[in-house]
Amino acid sequence: MSYYKIKNLEEYFKHYKKSIREPRKFWGKIAEENFIWYQGWDKVVDFNMGEADVKWFVNAKVNITKNCIDRHLAKRGDKTAIIFEPNNPNEGALHISYNELYDRVAKMANVLREQGVKKGDRVCIYLPMIPELAIAVLACARIGAIHSVVFAGFSASAVTSRINDCECKMVITSDGGFRGNKSIDLKGIIDEALEKCPSVEKVLVANRTNTDVNMKEGRDQWLQPLLDAAIPNNVAEIMDAEDPLFILYTSGSTGKPKGMLHTTAGYMVQTAYSFKNIFNYEENDVFWCTADIGWITGHSYILYGPLLNGATTVIFEGVPSYPDFGRFWEVIDKHKVSQFYTAPTAIRSLAKESDEWVDKYDLSSLKVIGSVGEPINEEAWHWYNDHVGKKKCPVVDTWWQTETGSIMISPVPFVTPTKPTYATLPLPGIQPVLMDEKRNEIEGNQVVGSLCIKFPWPSMARTIWGDHERYKETYFSAFPGKYFTGDGALRDEVGYYRITGRVDDVVIVSGHNLGTAPIEDAINEHPAVAESAIVGFPHDIKGNALYGFIILKETGEYRDRDNLTREINEHVSSHIGPIAKLDKIQFVSGLPKTRSGKIMRRILRKIAEGDFSNFGDTSTLLNPEIVDEIKDNKI
Ligand code: WT7
Repeated sequence: MSYYKIKNLEEYFKHYKKSIREPRKFWGKIAEENFIWYQGWDKVVDFNMGEADVKWFVNAKVNITKNCIDRHLAKRGDKTAIIFEPNNPNEGALHISYNELYDRVAKMANVLREQGVKKGDRVCIYLPMIPELAIAVLACARIGAIHSVVFAGFSASAVTSRINDCECKMVITSDGGFRGNKSIDLKGIIDEALEKCPSVEKVLVANRTNTDVNMKEGRDQWLQPLLDAAIPNNVAEIMDAEDPLFILYTSGSTGKPKGMLHTTAGYMVQTAYSFKNIFNYEENDVFWCTADIGWITGHSYILYGPLLNGATTVIFEGVPSYPDFGRFWEVIDKHKVSQFYTAPTAIRSLAKESDEWVDKYDLSSLKVIGSVGEPINEEAWHWYNDHVGKKKCPVVDTWWQTETGSIMISPVPFVTPTKPTYATLPLPGIQPVLMDEKRNEIEGNQVVGSLCIKFPWPSMARTIWGDHERYKETYFSAFPGKYFTGDGALRDEVGYYRITGRVDDVVIVSGHNLGTAPIEDAINEHPAVAESAIVGFPHDIKGNALYGFIILKETGEYRDRDNLTREINEHVSSHIGPIAKLDKIQFVSGLPKTRSGKIMRRILRKIAEGDFSNFGDTSTLLNPEIVDEIKDNKI
């Protein structure tokens, strides 16, 4: 019996039970039957959750790109691996076959080696959604270099801190990028970022926008001539199962971004397995995930998951609103997309436009439609189900995180009956639990608690780059022996999970995970600002938006509050990126603080939401009178 594909509900429960009772046998069998290995493992899993130490497929040897590309060549060499759909529809799509992908990745891998990149070196990839991005990622994996993709919407200072944190040796970027009717000067941002990055020796520049850029002698080279000179053959590096594959930064509730480290074999096995089941993938399907490869969703479900299954995956450079609001639906129609995977924020923004945009196109190729990134509200779920899925495509509401590497809780389409706003059931191998405030596991159904995972899973992050203590502290200390997700959830009468949102100081804005602390740090650097507190509040399109409460220094300058508001947002934009801009800024004379000096964010959150009904226990506040002032001046 094979566990790779769940065929019906009965089988789901059977596989699930097996995966809990005998996780080693379950994952061992999946790993053995569906991948090519240079050498098998001594142990399927070895772990100590208390120490946050987890190893899967101990001592096995593998290369993930051999599994993504080489092994498909005999059977699927001419099959399209990647469809590149450019920002401008008139430019025409590009189809890259598995054979061609092999050649391009091999050449890129050879270029990286020639440029001195070795196994274990970190390479920062700061590229728009063009084929070079996929090829650079795979080329790193080919030679065992650790890729650190930084979303090309991040500002120079955000890039600087990510490069310095893991000491990248090389940056791969492009002259610029297209997004809707804008073009973005990516090389300029890299030049600025690199002023403070001593570890970077070389910069390779892909040509996308044909713009004049500054090329620094001895550091910068155009990528294309190097590729043209490279040979299209490459021997893959033999990697240990636990060798690092990539670092991906995610916001924390405090301090600097966390470089989540994912390793090779476990990530490979679970992204492939989850892709196959959550999207009901069958040969000749065309899969489209609209995320950017700069996020985990793109890593796992634009690149690795689909390619491991020999699928055709769409890389879309553009935005949902350009050249018009029919763009997503036009692409589905044009490429006969079978599975479509997007975010609630995109769904909401398109649902508010006329239904004619979607009705205009033939979406009959669709089989499964997915949602990820934040809780999907009931209205958006129904619009998606009715207008995009035409009530015949199961909606998979997939819950997971950068840290989990792959989808953890989600319906399996055509297997698990869906329920609007519910991520439903854990995948086989995943053991979620709800915990109460006393750190006890909550048994039974119709309960609410903090969502934890009590047994390791193959694709979990292994550490935070350079800071294992912080990894332990952030994820394994709140509930000893368990992984704490940072999310709250409820479990309904049949055991379905519904994710209710973050219980820490992270706010999800348009599906982007934003820590409030780094935004506050950026705001506090403005010369007029004494102190600030940021919270999220509900927003129709973005899910949440940011509300800032700001105390000004008494300098007498900055009388013009509108101007100041603008300046603060420009500051945030340049330090973190435009996504972190505040929708509302309220200047206050103080912030509600406890005797130990901690800001009581719970109260600020209620005020920002406009809910003045019950602030809970405020007896520990040092300055309770400030609550009324803030409330009365709410924007
Ligand atoms: C946080 C992780 C890997 C997904 C992309 C975001 C929220 C994610 C759902 C969902 C409700 C969701 C959680 C999670 N989230 N998917 N289907 N329903 N909430 O990855 O940036 O690491 O953010 O996104 O709060 O903890 P991320």
